Amino acid sequence: MKDHVAEYTAKTARSRALHEEALRVMPGGNSRTTTFFDPYPFYLVRGEGARMWDADGIERLDFNGNYTSLILGHAPAAVVKAVQEVAASGMSFPGPTEHEIRLAEVLTRRIPSLETLRFTNSGTEATMNAVRVARAFTGRAKIAKFEGAYHGTHDWVLVSVAPDLAAAGNRRRPKPVPSSSGIPKEIVKNVVVLPWNDADACEKILAKEGPSLAALLVDPLLGIGGVIPPAGGFLERLRAATAQQGIVLIFDEVISFRVAPGGAQERFGVRPDLTTLGKIIGGGLPVGAFGGRADVMGAYDPRKGGARISHGGTFNANPLTMAAGLATLAELTPAAYARLDALGDRLRAGVTALLRKKKLAAQVSGLGSLFCLHWTRKRLTDYRASRPADPAMPLRVFMGLLNEGIVLSQRGMGACSLAMTDADVDRFVDALGRIV
Ligand SMILES: Cc1ncc(COP(=O)(O)O)c(C=O)c1O
Repeated sequence: MKDHVAEYTAKTARSRALHEEALRVMPGGNSRTTTFFDPYPFYLVRGEGARMWDADGIERLDFNGNYTSLILGHAPAAVVKAVQEVAASGMSFPGPTEHEIRLAEVLTRRIPSLETLRFTNSGTEATMNAVRVARAFTGRAKIAKFEGAYHGTHDWVLVSVAPDLAAAGNRRRPKPVPSSSGIPKEIVKNVVVLPWNDADACEKILAKEGPSLAALLVDPLLGIGGVIPPAGGFLERLRAATAQQGIVLIFDEVISFRVAPGGAQERFGVRPDLTTLGKIIGGGLPVGAFGGRADVMGAYDPRKGGARISHGGTFNANPLTMAAGLATLAELTPAAYARLDALGDRLRAGVTALLRKKKLAAQVSGLGSLFCLHWTRKRLTDYRASRPADPAMPLRVFMGLLNEGIVLSQRGMGACSLAMTDADVDRFVDALGRIV
Protein backbone atom coordinates (compact mmCIF):
# COMPACT_ATOMS: atom_id res chain seq x y z
CA MET A 1 0.00 0.00 0.00
CA LYS A 2 2.85 2.36 0.85
CA ASP A 3 4.21 2.02 -2.68
CA HIS A 4 0.77 2.62 -4.21
CA VAL A 5 0.29 5.76 -2.10
CA ALA A 6 3.80 7.04 -2.90
CA GLU A 7 3.15 6.65 -6.63
CA TYR A 8 -0.26 8.30 -6.32
CA THR A 9 0.99 11.33 -4.36
CA ALA A 10 3.96 11.76 -6.72
CA LYS A 11 1.52 12.14 -9.63
CA THR A 12 -1.19 14.28 -8.03
CA ALA A 13 0.36 17.50 -6.72
CA ARG A 14 -2.50 19.71 -7.91
CA SER A 15 -5.12 17.51 -6.23
CA ARG A 16 -3.11 17.63 -3.02
CA ALA A 17 -2.99 21.44 -3.17
CA LEU A 18 -6.76 21.61 -3.77
CA HIS A 19 -7.34 19.23 -0.88
CA GLU A 20 -5.31 21.49 1.40
CA GLU A 21 -7.47 24.47 0.39
CA ALA A 22 -10.60 22.37 0.93
CA LEU A 23 -9.51 21.40 4.45
CA ARG A 24 -9.85 25.03 5.49
CA VAL A 25 -13.55 25.16 4.67
CA MET A 26 -14.92 21.62 4.96
CA PRO A 27 -14.36 18.92 7.61
CA GLY A 28 -11.86 16.55 6.00
CA GLY A 29 -12.04 18.77 2.94
CA ASN A 30 -15.15 17.35 1.30
CA SER A 31 -18.91 16.80 1.22
CA ARG A 32 -19.05 13.12 0.40
CA THR A 33 -17.65 10.50 2.76
CA THR A 34 -17.95 7.72 0.18
CA THR A 35 -15.59 9.33 -2.32
CA PHE A 36 -12.89 10.25 0.17
CA PHE A 37 -9.79 8.14 0.67
CA ASP A 38 -6.48 8.80 2.35
CA PRO A 39 -4.28 10.67 1.77
CA TYR A 40 -6.66 12.75 -0.44
CA PRO A 41 -8.96 12.17 -3.40
CA PHE A 42 -8.12 13.30 -6.92
CA TYR A 43 -10.06 16.36 -8.10
CA LEU A 44 -11.95 15.91 -11.33
CA VAL A 45 -12.11 18.46 -14.09
CA ARG A 46 -13.56 16.72 -17.12
CA GLY A 47 -15.30 13.58 -18.30
CA GLU A 48 -15.92 12.32 -21.80
CA GLY A 49 -17.32 8.92 -22.69
CA ALA A 50 -15.65 6.22 -20.62
CA ARG A 51 -12.83 8.49 -19.47
CA MET A 52 -12.25 11.31 -17.01
CA TRP A 53 -9.38 13.66 -16.31
CA ASP A 54 -8.17 14.97 -12.97
CA ALA A 55 -6.67 18.30 -11.96
CA ASP A 56 -3.17 16.99 -12.74
CA GLY A 57 -4.24 16.06 -16.26
CA ILE A 58 -4.24 12.31 -15.58
CA GLU A 59 -6.67 10.35 -17.77
CA ARG A 60 -8.47 7.43 -16.19
CA LEU A 61 -10.95 4.86 -17.42
CA ASP A 62 -14.08 5.20 -15.29
CA PHE A 63 -15.55 1.93 -14.00
CA ASN A 64 -17.12 3.78 -11.08
CA GLY A 65 -19.46 5.94 -13.20
CA ASN A 66 -20.38 8.13 -10.25
CA TYR A 67 -21.34 5.02 -8.32
CA THR A 68 -23.20 3.44 -11.25
CA SER A 69 -25.14 6.59 -12.26
CA LEU A 70 -23.50 7.26 -15.63
CA ILE A 71 -24.83 4.41 -17.73
CA LEU A 72 -24.07 6.26 -21.00
CA GLY A 73 -20.64 7.45 -19.82
CA HIS A 74 -19.61 11.07 -19.31
CA ALA A 75 -21.25 13.98 -21.11
CA PRO A 76 -23.25 12.02 -23.72
CA ALA A 77 -24.16 14.41 -26.54
CA ALA A 78 -27.94 13.85 -26.45
CA VAL A 79 -28.14 14.43 -22.70
CA VAL A 80 -25.90 17.51 -22.76
CA LYS A 81 -28.03 18.96 -25.56
CA ALA A 82 -31.29 18.30 -23.69
CA VAL A 83 -29.95 19.92 -20.52
CA GLN A 84 -28.61 22.95 -22.38
CA GLU A 85 -31.90 23.52 -24.16
CA VAL A 86 -33.94 23.28 -20.98
CA ALA A 87 -31.47 25.36 -18.94
CA ALA A 88 -31.75 28.20 -21.42
CA SER A 89 -35.47 28.44 -20.60
CA GLY A 90 -35.06 28.53 -16.82
CA MET A 91 -33.38 26.21 -14.34
CA SER A 92 -36.18 25.67 -11.83
CA PHE A 93 -39.62 27.04 -11.08
CA PRO A 94 -42.05 27.26 -8.18
CA GLY A 95 -44.29 24.77 -9.95
CA PRO A 96 -44.40 21.69 -12.16
CA THR A 97 -43.25 21.39 -15.77
CA GLU A 98 -44.25 19.00 -18.52
CA HIS A 99 -40.86 17.26 -18.35
CA GLU A 100 -41.91 15.69 -15.05
CA ILE A 101 -44.98 14.06 -16.58
CA ARG A 102 -43.00 12.67 -19.49
CA LEU A 103 -40.33 11.05 -17.30
CA ALA A 104 -43.00 9.64 -14.97
CA GLU A 105 -44.77 8.18 -18.02
CA VAL A 106 -41.59 6.50 -19.27
CA LEU A 107 -40.87 5.01 -15.86
CA THR A 108 -44.41 3.75 -15.26
CA ARG A 109 -44.38 2.15 -18.73
CA ARG A 110 -41.08 0.41 -18.04
CA ILE A 111 -41.98 -0.76 -14.51
CA PRO A 112 -45.55 -2.13 -14.36
CA SER A 113 -45.59 -2.17 -10.53
CA LEU A 114 -45.01 1.58 -10.57
CA GLU A 115 -48.61 2.71 -10.86
CA THR A 116 -47.79 6.22 -9.68
CA LEU A 117 -44.59 7.87 -8.48
CA ARG A 118 -43.01 11.04 -7.14
CA PHE A 119 -39.58 12.52 -7.76
CA THR A 120 -36.95 13.53 -5.21
CA ASN A 121 -33.39 14.78 -5.48
CA SER A 122 -31.66 11.67 -4.16
CA GLY A 123 -32.05 7.98 -3.55
CA THR A 124 -31.86 8.78 0.15
CA GLU A 125 -35.03 10.88 -0.02
CA ALA A 126 -36.68 8.15 -2.08
CA THR A 127 -36.08 5.41 0.51
CA MET A 128 -36.96 7.82 3.34
CA ASN A 129 -40.34 8.52 1.75
CA ALA A 130 -40.99 4.88 0.85
CA VAL A 131 -40.40 3.87 4.46
CA ARG A 132 -42.57 6.72 5.74
CA VAL A 133 -45.49 5.95 3.45
CA ALA A 134 -45.29 2.26 4.38
CA ARG A 135 -45.59 3.24 8.04
CA ALA A 136 -48.49 5.58 7.26
CA PHE A 137 -50.26 2.88 5.21
CA THR A 138 -49.85 0.04 7.71
CA GLY A 139 -49.96 1.99 10.96
CA ARG A 140 -46.90 -0.03 12.06
CA ALA A 141 -43.56 1.37 13.21
CA LYS A 142 -40.79 -1.13 12.45
CA ILE A 143 -39.00 -1.79 9.19
CA ALA A 144 -36.86 -4.71 8.06
CA LYS A 145 -33.73 -4.51 5.92
CA PHE A 146 -30.84 -6.76 5.02
CA GLU A 147 -27.47 -6.90 6.67
CA GLY A 148 -24.93 -5.32 4.32
CA ALA A 149 -27.54 -3.34 2.36
CA TYR A 150 -27.10 0.38 1.73
CA HIS A 151 -30.16 2.55 1.14
CA GLY A 152 -28.80 6.08 1.62
CA THR A 153 -28.08 8.29 4.59
CA HIS A 154 -31.26 8.86 6.59
CA ASP A 155 -31.53 7.46 10.10
CA TRP A 156 -33.83 4.52 9.32
CA VAL A 157 -31.47 2.87 6.89
CA LEU A 158 -28.14 3.62 8.55
CA VAL A 159 -28.38 0.35 10.41
CA SER A 160 -26.21 -2.74 9.76
CA VAL A 161 -24.85 -1.38 6.49
CA ALA A 162 -21.37 -2.85 7.00
CA PRO A 163 -21.43 -3.96 10.64
CA ASP A 164 -18.53 -5.22 12.65
CA LEU A 165 -19.30 -8.90 13.11
CA ALA A 166 -18.27 -8.74 16.77
CA ALA A 167 -21.40 -6.62 17.38
CA ALA A 168 -23.71 -8.17 14.79
CA GLY A 169 -24.85 -11.35 16.56
CA ASN A 170 -25.90 -14.60 14.98
CA ARG A 171 -25.79 -14.90 11.18
CA ARG A 172 -29.33 -16.27 11.00
CA ARG A 173 -30.72 -13.62 13.37
CA PRO A 174 -28.51 -10.54 12.94
CA LYS A 175 -28.60 -7.80 15.54
CA PRO A 176 -29.22 -4.24 14.34
CA VAL A 177 -26.00 -2.22 14.57
CA PRO A 178 -26.00 1.56 14.02
CA SER A 179 -23.81 2.49 11.04
CA SER A 180 -23.21 6.05 12.16
CA SER A 181 -22.98 8.19 15.23
CA GLY A 182 -26.13 10.12 15.93
CA ILE A 183 -28.70 7.41 15.16
CA PRO A 184 -31.19 7.31 18.08
CA LYS A 185 -31.47 3.99 19.94
CA GLU A 186 -35.23 4.15 19.38
CA ILE A 187 -34.65 3.87 15.64
CA VAL A 188 -32.11 1.06 15.87
CA LYS A 189 -34.54 -0.89 18.05
CA ASN A 190 -37.18 -0.52 15.36
CA VAL A 191 -35.07 -1.94 12.54
CA VAL A 192 -35.15 -5.70 12.03
CA VAL A 193 -32.10 -7.04 10.21
CA LEU A 194 -32.27 -10.06 7.90
CA PRO A 195 -29.58 -12.34 6.41
CA TRP A 196 -29.39 -12.06 2.59
CA ASN A 197 -30.16 -15.23 0.63
CA ASP A 198 -31.29 -17.26 3.65
CA ALA A 199 -35.00 -17.62 2.93
CA ASP A 200 -35.69 -19.99 5.83
CA ALA A 201 -34.15 -17.59 8.36
CA CYS A 202 -35.97 -14.61 6.80
CA GLU A 203 -39.33 -16.36 6.90
CA LYS A 204 -38.82 -17.20 10.56
CA ILE A 205 -37.94 -13.62 11.48
CA LEU A 206 -40.76 -12.16 9.37
CA ALA A 207 -43.28 -14.56 10.93
CA LYS A 208 -42.28 -13.39 14.39
CA GLU A 209 -41.90 -9.66 13.67
CA GLY A 210 -44.58 -9.41 10.97
CA PRO A 211 -47.38 -7.78 12.98
CA SER A 212 -45.15 -4.80 13.86
CA LEU A 213 -43.38 -4.47 10.48
CA ALA A 214 -44.46 -1.69 8.10
CA ALA A 215 -41.97 -2.48 5.35
CA LEU A 216 -39.31 -4.80 4.10
CA LEU A 217 -36.69 -2.83 2.17
CA VAL A 218 -34.78 -4.94 -0.35
CA ASP A 219 -32.01 -4.02 -2.75
CA PRO A 220 -32.57 -6.94 -5.15
CA LEU A 221 -28.84 -7.09 -5.98
CA LEU A 222 -27.37 -6.07 -2.61
CA GLY A 223 -25.51 -3.48 -4.73
CA ILE A 224 -23.17 -1.56 -2.46
CA GLY A 225 -23.07 -4.67 -0.25
CA GLY A 226 -21.14 -6.49 -2.99
CA VAL A 227 -23.51 -7.03 -5.96
CA ILE A 228 -24.64 -10.44 -4.71
CA PRO A 229 -27.68 -11.50 -6.78
CA PRO A 230 -30.55 -13.26 -5.02
CA ALA A 231 -30.55 -17.07 -4.97
CA GLY A 232 -33.24 -18.72 -7.13
CA GLY A 233 -36.63 -18.32 -5.48
CA PHE A 234 -35.37 -16.01 -2.70
CA LEU A 235 -37.21 -12.86 -3.79
CA GLU A 236 -40.36 -14.91 -4.46
CA ARG A 237 -40.30 -16.19 -0.89
CA LEU A 238 -39.85 -12.65 0.45
CA ARG A 239 -42.80 -11.59 -1.70
CA ALA A 240 -44.99 -14.39 -0.32
CA ALA A 241 -43.99 -13.79 3.32
CA THR A 242 -44.60 -10.03 3.13
CA ALA A 243 -47.94 -10.47 1.34
CA GLN A 244 -49.07 -12.88 4.02
CA GLN A 245 -48.10 -10.50 6.83
CA GLY A 246 -49.36 -7.28 5.24
CA ILE A 247 -45.80 -5.87 5.10
CA VAL A 248 -45.13 -3.37 2.31
CA LEU A 249 -42.40 -4.86 0.09
CA ILE A 250 -40.11 -2.11 -1.20
CA PHE A 251 -37.54 -2.86 -3.89
CA ASP A 252 -34.76 -0.30 -3.70
CA GLU A 253 -33.74 -0.23 -7.36
CA VAL A 254 -31.53 2.86 -7.12
CA ILE A 255 -28.69 0.74 -8.53
CA SER A 256 -30.41 -2.40 -9.82
CA PHE A 257 -32.77 -0.56 -12.20
CA ARG A 258 -29.91 -0.54 -14.69
CA VAL A 259 -29.98 -4.33 -15.24
CA ALA A 260 -33.09 -4.34 -17.46
CA PRO A 261 -35.59 -1.89 -19.02
CA GLY A 262 -37.86 -2.60 -16.05
CA GLY A 263 -35.08 -3.12 -13.50
CA ALA A 264 -34.29 -6.14 -11.35
CA GLN A 265 -38.01 -6.75 -10.74
CA GLU A 266 -38.39 -7.45 -14.45
CA ARG A 267 -35.25 -9.58 -14.57
CA PHE A 268 -36.34 -11.70 -11.58
CA GLY A 269 -40.09 -11.57 -12.25
CA VAL A 270 -41.14 -10.38 -8.78
CA ARG A 271 -43.54 -7.47 -8.25
CA PRO A 272 -42.95 -5.30 -5.17
CA ASP A 273 -45.50 -2.95 -3.62
CA LEU A 274 -43.19 0.05 -3.85
CA THR A 275 -39.99 0.82 -5.77
CA THR A 276 -37.31 3.41 -5.18
CA LEU A 277 -35.14 4.74 -8.00
CA GLY A 278 -32.23 7.12 -8.44
CA LYS A 279 -28.90 7.36 -10.26
CA ILE A 280 -29.45 6.58 -13.97
CA ILE A 281 -32.99 8.01 -14.13
CA GLY A 282 -31.51 11.50 -13.67
CA GLY A 283 -28.98 11.19 -16.48
CA GLY A 284 -26.12 12.35 -14.24
CA LEU A 285 -28.01 15.04 -12.30
CA PRO A 286 -29.28 14.73 -8.71
CA VAL A 287 -32.38 12.52 -8.62
CA GLY A 288 -34.53 10.00 -6.86
CA ALA A 289 -38.05 8.64 -7.26
CA PHE A 290 -40.40 6.45 -5.28
CA GLY A 291 -43.69 4.93 -6.23
CA GLY A 292 -45.76 1.81 -6.69
CA ARG A 293 -49.25 0.81 -5.62
CA ALA A 294 -51.64 3.68 -6.19
CA ASP A 295 -53.52 2.94 -2.93
CA VAL A 296 -50.30 3.30 -0.91
CA MET A 297 -49.08 6.36 -2.83
CA GLY A 298 -52.48 8.00 -2.34
CA ALA A 299 -51.15 9.35 0.98
CA TYR A 300 -49.32 12.00 -1.06
CA ASP A 301 -52.39 13.21 -2.98
CA PRO A 302 -52.78 16.86 -1.96
CA ARG A 303 -56.09 17.57 -3.65
CA LYS A 304 -58.62 19.38 -1.46
CA GLY A 305 -56.02 19.65 1.29
CA GLY A 306 -56.00 15.88 1.64
CA ALA A 307 -52.28 14.98 1.69
CA ARG A 308 -51.56 12.73 4.65
CA ILE A 309 -47.85 13.02 3.93
CA SER A 310 -46.39 16.35 2.99
CA HIS A 311 -43.58 15.97 0.51
CA GLY A 312 -41.93 19.26 -0.35
CA GLY A 313 -38.56 19.73 -1.98
CA THR A 314 -37.39 22.94 -3.62
CA PHE A 315 -35.77 21.04 -6.48
CA ASN A 316 -38.04 17.97 -6.73
CA ALA A 317 -38.67 17.11 -10.38
CA ASN A 318 -36.64 20.09 -11.55
CA PRO A 319 -36.72 20.43 -15.34
CA LEU A 320 -32.98 19.91 -15.87
CA THR A 321 -32.95 16.54 -14.14
CA MET A 322 -36.18 15.45 -15.78
CA ALA A 323 -34.85 16.33 -19.26
CA ALA A 324 -31.52 14.60 -18.59
CA GLY A 325 -33.34 11.50 -17.35
CA LEU A 326 -35.62 11.40 -20.39
CA ALA A 327 -32.72 11.81 -22.81
CA THR A 328 -30.82 9.03 -21.03
CA LEU A 329 -33.67 6.55 -20.96
CA ALA A 330 -34.32 7.22 -24.65
CA GLU A 331 -30.87 5.78 -25.38
CA LEU A 332 -31.53 2.67 -23.30
CA THR A 333 -33.03 0.45 -26.00
CA PRO A 334 -33.16 -3.37 -25.83
CA ALA A 335 -29.94 -3.40 -27.89
CA ALA A 336 -28.28 -1.14 -25.33
CA TYR A 337 -29.13 -3.55 -22.50
CA ALA A 338 -27.78 -6.47 -24.54
CA ARG A 339 -24.55 -4.52 -25.07
CA LEU A 340 -24.29 -3.68 -21.34
CA ASP A 341 -24.79 -7.35 -20.47
CA ALA A 342 -22.12 -8.36 -22.98
CA LEU A 343 -19.62 -5.90 -21.51
CA GLY A 344 -20.33 -7.14 -17.98
CA ASP A 345 -20.07 -10.80 -19.05
CA ARG A 346 -16.78 -10.12 -20.81
CA LEU A 347 -15.35 -8.40 -17.77
CA ARG A 348 -16.46 -11.11 -15.35
CA ALA A 349 -15.15 -13.87 -17.63
CA GLY A 350 -11.81 -12.08 -18.01
CA VAL A 351 -11.42 -11.46 -14.28
CA THR A 352 -12.44 -15.02 -13.40
CA ALA A 353 -9.88 -16.48 -15.82
CA LEU A 354 -7.21 -14.16 -14.44
CA LEU A 355 -7.90 -15.00 -10.80
CA ARG A 356 -7.83 -18.71 -11.64
CA LYS A 357 -4.58 -18.43 -13.54
CA LYS A 358 -2.97 -16.59 -10.65
CA LYS A 359 -4.53 -19.00 -8.12
CA LEU A 360 -5.89 -16.14 -6.04
CA ALA A 361 -8.46 -16.55 -3.28
CA ALA A 362 -10.78 -14.10 -5.00
CA GLN A 363 -13.83 -13.93 -7.25
CA VAL A 364 -16.02 -11.51 -9.13
CA SER A 365 -19.80 -11.23 -8.70
CA GLY A 366 -22.39 -9.27 -10.59
CA LEU A 367 -25.23 -9.10 -13.05
CA GLY A 368 -25.53 -7.25 -16.34
CA SER A 369 -23.18 -4.28 -16.37
CA LEU A 370 -22.59 -4.40 -12.59
CA PHE A 371 -19.74 -6.25 -10.95
CA CYS A 372 -17.81 -6.46 -7.70
CA LEU A 373 -14.43 -7.94 -6.81
CA HIS A 374 -14.33 -10.12 -3.70
CA TRP A 375 -11.16 -11.16 -1.94
CA THR A 376 -12.39 -14.40 -0.46
CA ARG A 377 -12.89 -17.99 -1.57
CA LYS A 378 -16.14 -18.39 0.38
CA ARG A 379 -19.36 -19.00 -1.53
CA LEU A 380 -20.85 -15.53 -1.98
CA THR A 381 -24.20 -15.80 -0.27
CA ASP A 382 -24.41 -12.72 1.91
CA TYR A 383 -22.60 -9.79 3.50
CA ARG A 384 -20.71 -11.98 5.96
CA ALA A 385 -19.47 -14.45 3.36
CA SER A 386 -18.28 -11.63 1.12
CA ARG A 387 -16.02 -10.02 3.70
CA PRO A 388 -12.41 -10.01 2.49
CA ALA A 389 -9.99 -12.37 4.21
CA ASP A 390 -7.57 -9.41 4.38
CA PRO A 391 -9.66 -6.28 5.18
CA ALA A 392 -7.06 -3.96 3.60
CA MET A 393 -7.16 -5.73 0.22
CA PRO A 394 -10.04 -3.82 -1.48
CA LEU A 395 -8.42 -0.45 -0.82
CA ARG A 396 -5.01 -1.71 -2.00
CA VAL A 397 -6.60 -2.88 -5.23
CA PHE A 398 -8.45 0.43 -5.60
CA MET A 399 -5.19 2.40 -5.21
CA GLY A 400 -3.27 0.04 -7.46
CA LEU A 401 -5.89 0.39 -10.20
CA LEU A 402 -5.89 4.18 -9.80
CA ASN A 403 -2.20 4.20 -10.58
CA GLU A 404 -2.96 2.02 -13.60
CA GLY A 405 -5.42 4.67 -14.79
CA ILE A 406 -8.59 2.86 -13.75
CA VAL A 407 -11.27 4.02 -11.31
CA LEU A 408 -13.43 1.60 -9.36
CA SER A 409 -15.27 2.09 -6.06
CA GLN A 410 -13.14 1.63 -2.99
CA ARG A 411 -14.95 -1.55 -2.00
CA GLY A 412 -14.47 -3.08 -5.43
CA MET A 413 -17.83 -2.42 -7.05
CA GLY A 414 -17.91 -1.25 -10.64
CA ALA A 415 -20.15 -0.76 -13.64
CA CYS A 416 -19.59 -0.87 -17.39
CA SER A 417 -21.08 1.97 -19.38
CA LEU A 418 -22.33 2.13 -22.95
CA ALA A 419 -19.37 4.39 -23.75
CA MET A 420 -17.00 1.46 -23.19
CA THR A 421 -15.49 -0.81 -25.78
CA ASP A 422 -14.39 -4.43 -25.44
CA ALA A 423 -10.82 -3.07 -25.40
CA ASP A 424 -11.66 -0.91 -22.35
CA VAL A 425 -12.92 -3.98 -20.51
CA ASP A 426 -9.81 -5.94 -21.49
CA ARG A 427 -7.68 -3.07 -20.23
CA PHE A 428 -9.35 -3.41 -16.84
CA VAL A 429 -8.55 -7.12 -16.72
CA ASP A 430 -4.92 -6.52 -17.80
CA ALA A 431 -4.44 -3.78 -15.19
CA LEU A 432 -5.90 -6.00 -12.46
CA GLY A 433 -3.50 -8.74 -13.56
CA ARG A 434 -0.52 -6.42 -13.17
CA ILE A 435 -1.45 -5.21 -9.70
CA VAL A 436 -2.50 -8.49 -8.11
C1 LIG B 1 -29.52 0.89 -3.27
C2 LIG B 1 -29.31 2.33 -2.94
N1 LIG B 1 -30.29 3.04 -2.37
C3 LIG B 1 -30.18 4.34 -2.07
C4 LIG B 1 -29.01 5.01 -2.34
C5 LIG B 1 -28.89 6.45 -1.99
O1 LIG B 1 -28.92 7.24 -3.12
P1 LIG B 1 -28.34 8.75 -3.08
O2 LIG B 1 -26.85 8.60 -2.98
O3 LIG B 1 -28.82 9.35 -4.36
O4 LIG B 1 -28.92 9.39 -1.87
C6 LIG B 1 -27.95 4.33 -2.94
C7 LIG B 1 -26.69 5.04 -3.26
O5 LIG B 1 -25.70 4.47 -3.63
C8 LIG B 1 -28.09 2.96 -3.23
O6 LIG B 1 -27.10 2.25 -3.77
